[in-house]
Amino acid sequence: MKNILIIDDDPLIRKTLSTHFRRRGYEVCLAESGEMGIELFEEINPELVILDIRLPDTDGLDILRRIKSINSEATVVIMTAYDDMRSTVEAIKSGAFEYLVKPLDFIELDLTVEKAIQVKSLEEKLSYLVAEKQKEYTIDNIIGRSPQMREVFKLIGSVATTRTNVLIQGESGTGKELVAKAIHYNSPFSHEPFIVINCSAISDTLLESELFGHVKGAFTDAVTETKGKFEIAGKGTLFLDEIGDISPNLQSKLLRVIETRDFMKVGGEKVLKTEARIIAATNKNLEKLVKEGKFREDLYYRLKVVEIKLPPLRERREDIPDLVAYLLEKINRELKKNVKKVPPHVMKKIMDFPWKGNVRELENALTRAVILAKGDVILEENLPLERREPVPLTTELLPLEEVEKRYIKYVLEKTKGNKLKASQILRISRPTLDNKIKKYGLEFKSA
Ligand SMILES: Nc1ncnc2c1ncn2[C@@H]1O[C@H](COP(=O)(O)OP(=O)(O)OP(=O)(O)O)[C@@H](O)[C@H]1O
Ligand SMILES: [Mg+2]
Repeated sequence: MKNILIIDDDPLIRKTLSTHFRRRGYEVCLAESGEMGIELFEEINPELVILDIRLPDTDGLDILRRIKSINSEATVVIMTAYDDMRSTVEAIKSGAFEYLVKPLDFIELDLTVEKAIQVKSLEEKLSYLVAEKQKEYTIDNIIGRSPQMREVFKLIGSVATTRTNVLIQGESGTGKELVAKAIHYNSPFSHEPFIVINCSAISDTLLESELFGHVKGAFTDAVTETKGKFEIAGKGTLFLDEIGDISPNLQSKLLRVIETRDFMKVGGEKVLKTEARIIAATNKNLEKLVKEGKFREDLYYRLKVVEIKLPPLRERREDIPDLVAYLLEKINRELKKNVKKVPPHVMKKIMDFPWKGNVRELENALTRAVILAKGDVILEENLPLERREPVPLTTELLPLEEVEKRYIKYVLEKTKGNKLKASQILRISRPTLDNKIKKYGLEFKSA
């Protein structure tokens, strides 16, 4: 039951209010002085305090401040006997939720109390959500004991408390976004927004207005003024994903914001300031793009104040068993299943597999295997471990003979024209292979 503490020296008010709230299903505690109010507050930690600002023993404002210092989240509604704006303003500044003027209007009183309790439970939910989010992105959720990953953890730890720009490079699926979030949620600005923007998914003009916002009428579709991500991010983090794909035009605009912290909305004239920290990520080799003249060198250096290189999974195979255990735990939780056993020979195959799509590919493969499992064991047959290279077939609909011709040609190329090897791979005899080579005109000149 929700409890309310009423602190007032007037016995009539105490009586009226307690009857009123008890009838509405609240538990009510009464205090006739400020000191008693503080004692009771510490004892019961009520949902809501209704406090008379004029008390005989102490100043109500002082009681309010003491309550707030005991619990800064406390919700306090104050009552003033007359419309004393000075102490009311002071009370609101000291963190009172609302004030009511005596004589009390009971409708107003009920509305205020309901609103106060609603806001409190919303705030509680919100702080719970923020805490959950932070838990999700603690460093503990980035798995890896390999020396390369230890380096990564060290960098995350040292960069999290700063505001410097970070560049994260790594193949697809190596955990770039995960690392960016870990940096953000371990920073002093974790309550500020973490905004992701994928620079390769949208057109240049759209990206520009996404980043900087636009004023009404800036272009045909700009019917209202919008805020850009630089503005929305506040003091938080702007995660620029796939930074290697931005156009030269936007590269120079981005450089300007990073250097001056100033920007303007598309079509706008007012200069705005940004305080956001920039974390950029790419699966491309930016250094190479710089050498090829496709990415501005000055921007590259501005972005990579700190550089985090995420190793591909195949270069840290020792992390695979831990990752498999962690991912299975996560997948089973999400799918409400319990498939966690991995026989040693299956684990070995998983460790030997190239995982070109890195952790993401491993996670997808395990998800599929969990879904297909009959018992509680991950079966080899349910993992896509055999696929070594994409088979060189097209999605075109072709006659069987054409498919055979192309495939034999492919195998001959791969075996550098070694017909014995080719016939073994194709599981046909040498003479059959010779016949087919003749038939399709595939004579391969071995080097
Ligand atoms: N070290 C790790 N420990 C645990 N999970 C990881 C790790 N690395 C990646 N993952 C998981 O793998 C998936 C892919 O990670 P993420 O999206 O961060 O990769 P990415 O590098 O941004 O990939 P892409 O380039 O494809 O966008 C996510 O589900 C993430 O939680
Ligand atoms: Mg990503």
